[in-house]
Amino acid sequence: MNDTISNETRFLHAVEFGLGAWQWGDRLIWQYGQTHGDEDCRAAFEVSLQAGIRFVDTAEVYGSGRSERLLGQFLKETDQPVLVATKYFPFPWRLQKKSLIRALRGSLERIGIESVDLYQIHQPYSLRPIENLMEAMAEAVKEGLTRTVGVSNYNQSQMLRAYSALARKNVPLAANQVTYSLLNRAIEKEGLLARCNELGVRVIAYSPIEKGLLTGKYSVENPPPGIRGQRYASLLPKIGALLKLMTAIGQEHGGKSKAQVALNWCICKGSMPIPGAKNAEQAEENAGALGWKLTEEEVAKLDEASDSVLK
Ligand SMILES: NC(=O)c1ccc[n+]([C@@H]2O[C@H](COP(=O)([O-])OP(=O)(O)OC[C@H]3O[C@@H](n4cnc5c(N)ncnc54)[C@H](OP(=O)(O)O)[C@@H]3O)[C@@H](O)[C@H]2O)c1
Repeated sequence: MNDTISNETRFLHAVEFGLGAWQWGDRLIWQYGQTHGDEDCRAAFEVSLQAGIRFVDTAEVYGSGRSERLLGQFLKETDQPVLVATKYFPFPWRLQKKSLIRALRGSLERIGIESVDLYQIHQPYSLRPIENLMEAMAEAVKEGLTRTVGVSNYNQSQMLRAYSALARKNVPLAANQVTYSLLNRAIEKEGLLARCNELGVRVIAYSPIEKGLLTGKYSVENPPPGIRGQRYASLLPKIGALLKLMTAIGQEHGGKSKAQVALNWCICKGSMPIPGAKNAEQAEENAGALGWKLTEEEVAKLDEASDSVLK
């Protein structure tokens, strides 16, 4: 393992895979209440645990707190240890230093735990400088409210500012949670992935199956519902050859699905994918990305096919 990784954050580098919980309570993008309800979310959580997944990512804003509350309920129902990551949203009205600790206490209350394993700044746009936010984060670590500190959607320069500000307080930057999939490789192309690896910052890959597109279930004729349909209207007609290759590669591994190939690719690239699951079936399929590995040659072929889509 990379020797730039600090002892405090080493556990995150040992986590190969996580479960995203934005779907638990979100109506606008994910049609919570229509396509899935609390029992489906519970089943997704339970199936993931049975498959050995021990990391759940949520945020105070997901379902306006519902995702955190549901996670809290589910945690009470299991005796398995689960690593919990949540996020602080830097709303423009949150100008005071203590707003971060206050928000974190709110998250802890909803989840029903005394400390989270990873507390992340949800996105970099804030009226407070990164340095101020990191000071508050270091305080949260000191108070024992979070084990480690992460950022999300930070580019290289924003991440380096966070990294340095935390270093001045002797706190390592544990993770940067960013969008990463075969259909979105900006972090690879812009050097952020390599820089994270150099610094020992864990890359957590969100939207690793590109919000459902890489399962192959959506097409021009059958686009995803709502906002996703508009967002992916120009991408959908281009992904046929990539999906075909993913099917062929999946067959070489005993019939792995396209979602499983997409997630395994994220792991092979050195990131921790956190696919969102609305129900047990999706969670079970996604967990099937574990326990096997694409070959280097297959990863290279997938890279090439994805380059042709993204060029
Ligand atoms: N930090 C950030 O700014 C940020 C942003 C986005 C997400 N995240 C985190 O990352 C997690 C994952 O990202 P994401 O939810 O945007 O996208 P994703 O994981 O790429 O896609 C999840 C969606 O794909 C579909 N799906 C999942 N597994 C499937 C399967 N096996 N078969 C068929 N369909 C399947 C489901 O939607 P349908 O069934 O409706 O198609 C599901 O809601 C989130 O839950 C959240 O924790 C963080």
